[in-house]
Amino acid sequence: MVRVAPSLLSADFSRLADAVQSVEGSADLLHCDIMDGRFVPNITMGPLIVEAVRKTTELPLDVHMMIVEPDRYLSDFRQAGADMISVHWEACPHLERTIDQIHRLGALAGVALNPATPVQALVDILDELDYVLIMSVNPGFGGQTFWPRATIKIRQAAQMRKGRERPLIEVDGGINQETADPVRAAGADILVAGSYVFASANPAERVKILRGN
Ligand code: DX5
Ligand code: ZN
Repeated sequence: MVRVAPSLLSADFSRLADAVQSVEGSADLLHCDIMDGRFVPNITMGPLIVEAVRKTTELPLDVHMMIVEPDRYLSDFRQAGADMISVHWEACPHLERTIDQIHRLGALAGVALNPATPVQALVDILDELDYVLIMSVNPGFGGQTFWPRATIKIRQAAQMRKGRERPLIEVDGGINQETADPVRAAGADILVAGSYVFASANPAERVKILRGN
């Protein structure tokens, strides 16, 4: 069954604990978007916020690093409580080393791909990844429109993985009731959703809808 990771980016940051509480029992993971104002235009949260979220929940924390030179901060985010850490292919000249570093810290390691980055860029490193994060928007902001070609990339990633369980395929950006169907059908294992979940008065219900049952 597909897993759902609500993205806290669209939560009310003045009431983060309440937002976490609203998806406890329905969400499988919590997605934390780290932005530095350089790799992407926006600036969001650092390890301090991740640590604060960690104190509110037992849910695994899925940390999506949209920053340049992520190697410098892997340890800080792991210590803050990250269970899964993804870095962007476009931000890592020595990706294999970065993945190894995440594993040495004891976290699951993922690589995120911008829409323009082909899935084939991961062919030589696929066996070392716990998950691939396929961006279905250009990263930087919540509430953007789903990029339909992402479903082709999901199928390509599933084909590259063939019969193996890893890497899992995570999809992020513009996921809602309509776009979740083709994304699940294409073979995604984890759906990230921010605005669709947290703009609702009933976030838990939205999580269930995304899971498709
Ligand atoms: C976008 C972030 C996403 C974002 C998704 O750069 O990586 O995780 O929170 O937001 P929605 O679901 O609103 O597109
Ligand atoms: Zn994200």
